[in-house]
Amino acid sequence: NEDQFKKVISHAKEYGYVFQSSEIYDGLSAVYDYAQNGVELKNNIREYWWKAMVQMHDNIVGIDAAIFMHPTTWKASGHVDAFNDPLIDNKDSKKRYRADVLVEDYVGKLDAKIEKEVAKAAKRFGDAFDKEQFVNTNPRVVGYKEKGEAILKRLGQSLEKEDLADVKALIEELEIACPESGSRNWTDVKQFNLMFGTKLGASADSAMDLYLRPETAQGIFVNFLNVQKTGRMKIPFGIAQTGKAFRNEIVARQFIFRMREFEQMEMQYFIKPGTQKEWYETWKETRLKWHLSLGMGEDNYRFHDHEKLAHYADAAADIEFRFPFGFKELEGIHSRTDFDLSQHEEYSGKKLRYFDPETNESYVPYVLETSIGLDRMFLAVFSKSLKEETLEDGSERTVLALPAVLAPTKAAVLPLIKRDGLPEVAKKLVEELKWDFNVAYDEKDAVGRRYRRQDAAGTPFCITVDHQTLEDETVTIRHRDTMEQQRVKISEVREIIKKEVDM
Ligand code: GAP
Repeated sequence: NEDQFKKVISHAKEYGYVFQSSEIYDGLSAVYDYAQNGVELKNNIREYWWKAMVQMHDNIVGIDAAIFMHPTTWKASGHVDAFNDPLIDNKDSKKRYRADVLVEDYVGKLDAKIEKEVAKAAKRFGDAFDKEQFVNTNPRVVGYKEKGEAILKRLGQSLEKEDLADVKALIEELEIACPESGSRNWTDVKQFNLMFGTKLGASADSAMDLYLRPETAQGIFVNFLNVQKTGRMKIPFGIAQTGKAFRNEIVARQFIFRMREFEQMEMQYFIKPGTQKEWYETWKETRLKWHLSLGMGEDNYRFHDHEKLAHYADAAADIEFRFPFGFKELEGIHSRTDFDLSQHEEYSGKKLRYFDPETNESYVPYVLETSIGLDRMFLAVFSKSLKEETLEDGSERTVLALPAVLAPTKAAVLPLIKRDGLPEVAKKLVEELKWDFNVAYDEKDAVGRRYRRQDAAGTPFCITVDHQTLEDETVTIRHRDTMEQQRVKISEVREIIKKEVDM
């Protein structure tokens, strides 16, 4: 809910994870900077993905293509003609919105009404409550559901036919109001391209119009044959890449969920035409397993199969995650057919075919793509990890229960007090551990306060050096999530922690 989301945003700032870009100039809309802890978490997520995709698959290799690409790339890919959002202005507030999002938000409100009815009934019927039966038979719920489906269907059809007048008519019929002013005074709907343009070259007549890439995928398609030949790859094989992408999104207050400058982690899997259905299912399953491996709760994920497809796809599904503002797309699995490679063949005049040595045939491969937003994954992990707990003694604690493999700092070493040689022993331990993982040293305030600070910052382990350490070379390891402490030999600390934090 909204409160939880606000807490996520302020915690991300307070604990050095995410700052607004150019904050001293009041920020730049939908652009953010990663701070000292944020950059570590982001790097760790990227590495966790890279290991799973590239290191663990002997037929997937990585590349790092440039952000700038030849402008014809975007003609061929369809982005110049088809990468548009339908926008509408409110005449009174002078605010601009995505027309489709206004309609989808309306349907979201119907969904919220359904959830309310379900919660009410669950309370009333107790153990005897059968949710599925209730949702399928309760007249009010069925009514909301059917209305929502009809609205989305009409929206989808209107957008597909580019019937923008009907999108406006829909907004008027539903009496959708401008969220800021409540006004219903809308302009016509117009299509706007999402790509940012820029220029290459200094002199006016030689300058070339360029775009900042809106997806990393095209850098892989244009390199497909180079990689296949130099890596002697045999189909099926994949090319993976992480990197920045840019979209001139019209957004309001979504933090790092929808940004204008963001990072994608994509993998294009080149396959034999006709095998796309199998690979689509395989990659859906493989990617969901990757998410579940982080242990953030199975019921926080669901698939959403697309009916309305992007211009390049013959099947597409999202892995949706339960963000603080509801289930939303986290990752896309797209069956892209031979659309991109065929288009690049046509526009470049170069053959982009795979020669199959077994059948002596050459063909344009089909592509199965997995595409996840790194920033969005960051938000998923961060928001799900932030918890407020009431402890047995009635006190409150804020804990950022990040999966240990992703946490920015793996351990904090704390001398119990600032005297008696304890800081020296603690600092020596820091020097030893820092070869293996990020470790912090903290001697300020009472140890209880320091534990809480590390809990809120997401550090999974606190190692405390006390007087007993001086006698028998043992320390305590406190576990962030359970707050349990175990006494162990100093010489064992490294291995105990490494076992938990290594990817
Ligand atoms: N190559 C396919 C592609 O780009 P997409 O569904 O447009 O597909 C893939 O984007 C993923 O990139 C999304 O699932 C989302 O996680 C992320 N993404 C897209 N637009 C974004 C934005 N404006 N801000 C943050 N992440 C975004």
